[in-house]
Amino acid sequence: MRLLVCGGAGFIGSTFVRQRVREFGDEVVVLDKLTYAGREENLKDVADDPGFRFVHGAIEDARAVAAAMEGSRPVEAVVNFAAETHVDRSIAEPDAFVKTHALGTYVLLEAARERSVRYVQVSTDEVYGSIEEGSFTEESPLRPSSPYSATKTGADLLVQSYFHTFGLEALICRGSNNYGPYQYPEKLIPLMILNALHGDALPVYGDGMQVRNWIHATDFARAIGHVLEHGEPGEVYNAGGPDECPNMEVVRRIVQYAGAEESLIEHVTDRPGHDRRYSLSSQKARALGWEPRVRFAEGLEQTVAWYRANRWWWEPIRSGDYRAYYERQYGRALA
Ligand code: NAD
Ligand code: TYD
Repeated sequence: MRLLVCGGAGFIGSTFVRQRVREFGDEVVVLDKLTYAGREENLKDVADDPGFRFVHGAIEDARAVAAAMEGSRPVEAVVNFAAETHVDRSIAEPDAFVKTHALGTYVLLEAARERSVRYVQVSTDEVYGSIEEGSFTEESPLRPSSPYSATKTGADLLVQSYFHTFGLEALICRGSNNYGPYQYPEKLIPLMILNALHGDALPVYGDGMQVRNWIHATDFARAIGHVLEHGEPGEVYNAGGPDECPNMEVVRRIVQYAGAEESLIEHVTDRPGHDRRYSLSSQKARALGWEPRVRFAEGLEQTVAWYRANRWWWEPIRSGDYRAYYERQYGRALA
């Protein structure tokens, strides 16, 4: 298949592109704005593949989208990963979230409609809000609580409207919290790994008993590919990981795998409006033939090993603007 992958230079997008090119033999065009989170280095394994093309541009820019979709061989489907993805940044500066998720998704949907190509929107369990017990299904009400999740919800509703109103072959795949190689170290797991490896403090928000449903990025990428190939237009598919874990336990395991000291753990002020627990039921995606392959304990240990072995990847981040971001967010300098 010939795919346009928007946001393909980010964490999950690049995992998906690597998988589609190497395992499925797809031709891929990546359209990416290269925000702080997007890096061409993430695509270096496929950059020389004859079927691969990179276009630097934003999804809210209709001309960039047209240039990416047309080329010498027009694409047959669009998969949209492009997003601002960090809840804390959406609390500090929501504007880019509104622009990319609302306007960007609209421009992409129009381009897909004009060319009658299949469209998959990559979404999140955060659109359902927090759940104390049990798991969210695709029928659960949408109750987002942060500017990140609220704007992602808006994008999902717009996608559904293009199916209902215009008959666009649009599908949505909602994942739970992802982890694995190439994740930007503002998110819990890579942040704690790099801080633990450097002997920096490990900032746990509030009591640290918030629960997340962890999925390895290769499993989520496979779910999105599966929905793209086998999903029913107009439908939503949840893709949750096989394990749930409270943040404190995640951090303790990272300390252990990194060979650091538990005394580095520090409880800091809680995130405003912090969702207590996320949990997804993936029965519908499983009925379609997908299931996650990586258990959390094994995946987390491998992820710690990857960060330990791939200094080339994170060194430029930790020595760049990220230092200033970290100081603003946590009120302390990195080692
Ligand atoms: P990321 O922050 O690592 O990457 C986002 C990518 O999108 C970057 O390459 C960035 O440059 C690009 N981008 C941002 N704005 C853009 C724009 N306007 N035009 C073009 N490109 C733009 O994010 P990620 O963790 O890989 O998440 C990818 C998708 O998966 C997002 O839609 C996110 O909501 C969803 N998701 C993420 C998680 C998670 O735990 N990380 C879980 C479920 C769903
Ligand atoms: P995060 O990786 O930002 O993902 P999300 O907010 O989308 O679930 O955070 C995961 C959990 O870890 C969340 O409960 C917030 C918490 N957290 C901390 O305790 N300390 C941190 O420094 C960060 C970044 C997150």
